Amino acid sequence: MKLDDEIKRRRTFGIISHPDAGKTTLTEKLLLFGGAIQEAGAVKSNKVKKGATSDFMEIERQRGISVATSVLGFEYKDIKINILDTPGHKDFAEDTYRTLTAVDSVIVVIDVAKGVEQQTEKLVEVCQMRNIPIIVFINKLDREGKDAVELLDEIEIKLGLKVTPLSFPIGIGYDFKGIYNIWEQNINLFTGDPKKDIEETIEIHDLNSSVLKKIIGATTADTFKEELDLVQGVYPDFNYELYRSGKLHPVFFGSALHNFGVRELLDCFVKIAPPPEAKTSSTREIKANEENFSGFVFKIHANMDPKHRDRLAFIKVVSGTFKRNSPYLHVRKSKQMKFSSPNAFFAEKKEIVDISYPGDIVGVHDTGNLKIGDTLTEGEEILFKGIPSFSPQHFKYINNADPMKTKQLEKGIKQLTDEGVAQLFVLEINGRKVIGTVGALQFEVIQYRLEHEYGAKCTYEDLKVYKSCWIDPGNDNSENFKEFKRLKRKYLARDKENQLVFFADSAFTLEMAIKTYPEINFQEISEF
Ligand code: G4P
Repeated sequence: MKLDDEIKRRRTFGIISHPDAGKTTLTEKLLLFGGAIQEAGAVKSNKVKKGATSDFMEIERQRGISVATSVLGFEYKDIKINILDTPGHKDFAEDTYRTLTAVDSVIVVIDVAKGVEQQTEKLVEVCQMRNIPIIVFINKLDREGKDAVELLDEIEIKLGLKVTPLSFPIGIGYDFKGIYNIWEQNINLFTGDPKKDIEETIEIHDLNSSVLKKIIGATTADTFKEELDLVQGVYPDFNYELYRSGKLHPVFFGSALHNFGVRELLDCFVKIAPPPEAKTSSTREIKANEENFSGFVFKIHANMDPKHRDRLAFIKVVSGTFKRNSPYLHVRKSKQMKFSSPNAFFAEKKEIVDISYPGDIVGVHDTGNLKIGDTLTEGEEILFKGIPSFSPQHFKYINNADPMKTKQLEKGIKQLTDEGVAQLFVLEINGRKVIGTVGALQFEVIQYRLEHEYGAKCTYEDLKVYKSCWIDPGNDNSENFKEFKRLKRKYLARDKENQLVFFADSAFTLEMAIKTYPEINFQEISEF
């Protein structure tokens, strides 16, 4: 098959939601449709189980299964689909943000009863920063929930998404009769039997026909028709270009648990969701169908087996073809690398592959050369930008608790920060090391992994930092910047890339600094 055809048939996407909205259940049902798994329950949830003895041990358990669920690849109607896993736990939100740089589109799952929740808001905000096309799936329609129109409003207001419903429920909760598919012009009747694979579908091209009244009763049919008229009057029709440019967002209703509305979602998804597209690099836009390979690392996963301390780096292929044993340029290190056993991911396994195409995710074994954000090419010196580093929320001094193991500690910290578990800062004034994390749990994870994987011990010391900001001085030599550096020298640090960082100890300090030094740019996100 030609490169262009391979590109056209690829859909690489992520499913995002607030925990418990039904992401795992929906993923599983999509895999069932693709024939990639045979029964429900095969996909392990990556969320922290309720009532687990310790959140932190639960995180370790998750890490064990998350290689298997990192990328779930399967075929459906001759389309190669790759679902990229996004961690459910809020302390690992940064992993999710980075994964979102490797998806070409997203499905957002919303619980019909809970509506838009906090984490959904954050994740959608990140998607919108990148204009990622979004489809919304409102889940758990078998339960009592909010009114459909109320939910559409909530999505527009809280998430700032312009919506176009492509299906609409007939009744809700106890009165739920089924779903009218605006996209396909048919009705699925709900029987409420979770064992039933696919519900009965009835073609209805004319809602005035007596067939609808016969099926759902005259009164329900009339109310539904009125509601649908209203909805179609208020919301715009689907528009392909607007969806693809992240400006209009189709909405589907259904119940993942009951496999209801899922096929409709998938059928529409494979038709409208974008294949891999061009990506901006440091020098030029790289088109997916260029002959030469290029790609970037968006995730690194340490091996869980203590005997094999290598790591798996996940590369998204941006252009050309990635071939086994071909020499590629590791641009940051100006170094040639060859990969003898690159993995491709399928639903329940990974396999060594000879060739991968744009949109595909390749897992390569690495002993410490690669880090998140690295670009690989066939020789061209380009860098893909846009992998975000967010200002951490928690900060602690890290101390060496075993002076005999200094080297191990340094190696451990370097590798864990390469993996994106935490960020490392070095204070300008005294060279002390500070660990910054998005979630509080990571401190325990780091301590545990340093000891078990690197044989090093560390202790922490509290450090009062409200927020850290990357500093772009505008003009390095300005008197103002010199004054800022002099007055704030106790609060300045360098990150791993040697970029200057300001530790503000309170919201007030940060506000004052921003006001006093308007020419200095204080950034809460750094892209590398
Ligand atoms: P998550 O990955 O987004 O965190 O959610 P997950 O799929 O694990 O679903 C969370 C809970 O919601 C699960 O129940 C799941 O069975 C239920 N659920 C998912 N989709 C639907 C749906 O369409 N209707 C209804 N009624 N429930 C749904 P649980 O009791 O927490 O877990 P489990 O013991 O059933 O696995």
